[in-house]
Amino acid sequence: MTQHGFRFAGLGAALPDKLLTNDELAETMDTSDEWIRERTGIGSRYLGGTTSGLATEAAAAAMERANVGPEDIDQLLLATTTPDYMLPGTAPAVAENLGLDCGALDIQAACSGWVYGLVLANGFLLQGQKRILVVGAETLDRMTDYTDRGTGILFGNGAGAAVIETGGGGEILGWDLGADGKYIKILWAEHGDTMLMDGKEVFRQAVTAIQRSANAALDRAGLTVDDIDFVVPHQANVRIVEAAWKRLGFTMEQTGMRLEETGNTSAASIPLALDKVLDEGRISDGDTVMLIGFGAGMTWATTIVRWAGDARSATTA
Ligand code: COA
Repeated sequence: MTQHGFRFAGLGAALPDKLLTNDELAETMDTSDEWIRERTGIGSRYLGGTTSGLATEAAAAAMERANVGPEDIDQLLLATTTPDYMLPGTAPAVAENLGLDCGALDIQAACSGWVYGLVLANGFLLQGQKRILVVGAETLDRMTDYTDRGTGILFGNGAGAAVIETGGGGEILGWDLGADGKYIKILWAEHGDTMLMDGKEVFRQAVTAIQRSANAALDRAGLTVDDIDFVVPHQANVRIVEAAWKRLGFTMEQTGMRLEETGNTSAASIPLALDKVLDEGRISDGDTVMLIGFGAGMTWATTIVRWAGDARSATTA
């Protein structure tokens, strides 16, 4: 589909220091480690930090791995549901911290935001830019009620970032972006308030969205499930992933997960999981990799990429 190339020159991640385990949560809420693990696959989550601070740390790590400086970045895209301020966006602060002199834009597409950002980055590359920084960063502890048994067990903070550049033999083979505003009020927050969620309906709609978006991206790419080497889904609930995989035909062995450690970090979850997967040496150049985001809105987003770039060979050898 594209001639210009799409290379993950470097990925980086950032997590705040404070870890809240399920057992610690159970001291203030009527729940248990066993219940949370069985129903969600989550064991802990990180709290603290700021969205711009975590975004800056993850982006700086990605730039270091890509061996590029601030003058090399042509565009900053920051996916977040938890901006530092209502006004302005958080991307300008991150650009300032990093010393960037380029466009800087927030993307609010909830947990699908980072994958929306990859598709937008591809558009900027098609328009002649060379290197785009795509960051997902969240401080969900600011809008989570940790006494609520539905949402309090799920969400945490973190950031992940990728430097995407032209050339290198990688490309976006297929993609799908979608939204359905009928479902706003199954997962939402009023200004200054904490999140409200109809967990069962979110679960159902998420499984449907994953299936529909994965199939749409496969169709656009002219590929089938059998052509996909590796999948990194949004890290919300392992049971959502398992239910969707049963319908699609993917296996957990070909799936990148970081949910147990981090909980649901919304727009940060896919780059955080990817960073771990690269550390483990599970993706190589030439692999066909699917990334699937889904979340509030409802929104969903899938890209299928022929992987090129950061494969961590130096650190995993
Ligand atoms: N700890 C212990 N027990 C709990 C609990 C908790 N945190 N939350 C609910 N329960 C209990 C309920 O009281 C109920 O008990 P009962 O059967 O005696 O009445 C039972 O567990 C089932 O409750 P229910 O609300 O039906 O749980 P569930 O199976 O729907 O699981 C979620 C709740 C939130 C884990 C689940 O709905 C979910 O993960 N949904 C998707 C949310 C999500 O991923 N959101 C982000 C999308 S990007």
